[in-house]
Amino acid sequence: MTTTAGLLDVAALRAEEFPATVGFAYLDAASTGLLPERARRRLEEWGRLRQRPLPSKDTLFSVFDEARTLAARLVNASPEQIALTTNTSYGLNVAARMLPLEPGDIVLLSDKEFPSNVRPWLRLEQEGIVVEIVPLTAQGWPDEDRLVARLADPRVKVLTVSLVQFANGYRVDLARLSAATRASGAYLVVDAIQALGQLPVDLAEVEVDILATGGQKWLIAPWGTGFLYVRRPLIERLVPPFAGWLAFEGTDDFSRLTEYDPTWRHDARRYELITLPFQDFAAFNASVELLLELGPARIEAHLQALHEPLLELATRRGLPLASPRGQSGSGILCLGVDAAGRRLHGALHVAHVHCSLREGALRFSPHVYNAIDDTARAAAALERAL
Ligand SMILES: Cc1ncc(COP(=O)(O)O)c(C=O)c1O
Repeated sequence: MTTTAGLLDVAALRAEEFPATVGFAYLDAASTGLLPERARRRLEEWGRLRQRPLPSKDTLFSVFDEARTLAARLVNASPEQIALTTNTSYGLNVAARMLPLEPGDIVLLSDKEFPSNVRPWLRLEQEGIVVEIVPLTAQGWPDEDRLVARLADPRVKVLTVSLVQFANGYRVDLARLSAATRASGAYLVVDAIQALGQLPVDLAEVEVDILATGGQKWLIAPWGTGFLYVRRPLIERLVPPFAGWLAFEGTDDFSRLTEYDPTWRHDARRYELITLPFQDFAAFNASVELLLELGPARIEAHLQALHEPLLELATRRGLPLASPRGQSGSGILCLGVDAAGRRLHGALHVAHVHCSLREGALRFSPHVYNAIDDTARAAAALERAL
């Protein structure tokens, strides 16, 4: 579903996958993405399936195998490095609980991170771990120079960061943070929920230790889906903080489950807490397949093109941009509105333009189902309300 110029053919995509996108401009993927038809159909099929004798165990569990394979393709990793999870928070809590930290060790993070990447680490303070929150730059972005400089301190054992910041769309220079943590020996943990599905991520090229995501935003998948990536050599070393009943070798054979073999699985399934929602992962698979068909690089270019009407309005009416442009930018575009925020957000809502109000800015996050008429509608409605 691309045009000959390589851009997304939104009209065809809407007709086939997003037929409900009529009469409103939904620009809020950074909150929750819209579900494509192929995923909605899977949910229905699986709902029906549950009303009859179930297919074989192998058929059921092949849904999870496929989900790991697709998740791995999304980040250019291998399926053994993927554990399925129910949200981002699960993965980040696993990371916080299983990394070998001792009292006095420092976990480094930027101020204004989304709380899912802060709470699990603050919880470690009870055990004497120090959480160091690095202030933002004057522009309001994570201070990458400062983060990198602090890695020189041997007490810094973890750097944890969102690849894309939720409140302004800032994209960190992951290659730089990866190189700096490889040099210092600190673990690099990434919250990728605001990135995966809207831009390319290649973990074979840029090494990170742990990455966590949920499926409900840019992956246009059901709530309650997500995954955790753990770098291959770490899997054998990092013991899960809790024990799933299918996390051990030999547990594929349901006829001898009570042998309680103590050997953890040698792949990332050791971090899974089965039973997971089959129906939601069946739909997740359909959603991720669609995104892979469209191609993350093409999606990234599409989103940049969609920003134009809002950027033009911002320039013409002197609205401050609360998002970076260029290399540090992403598909999230925020306009600073301060005290007028609630009123403007309300006016947009009345005009059937759906976006979010975050940290003093209107956050617009278009996705594959949006065309330029959506962001033009948002710009026109905003201008009327200014
Ligand atoms: C950066 C970031 N991380 C995590 C989440 C959500 O975490 P979870 O998937 O655990 O609900 C959000 C948004 O809700 C977010 O913006």
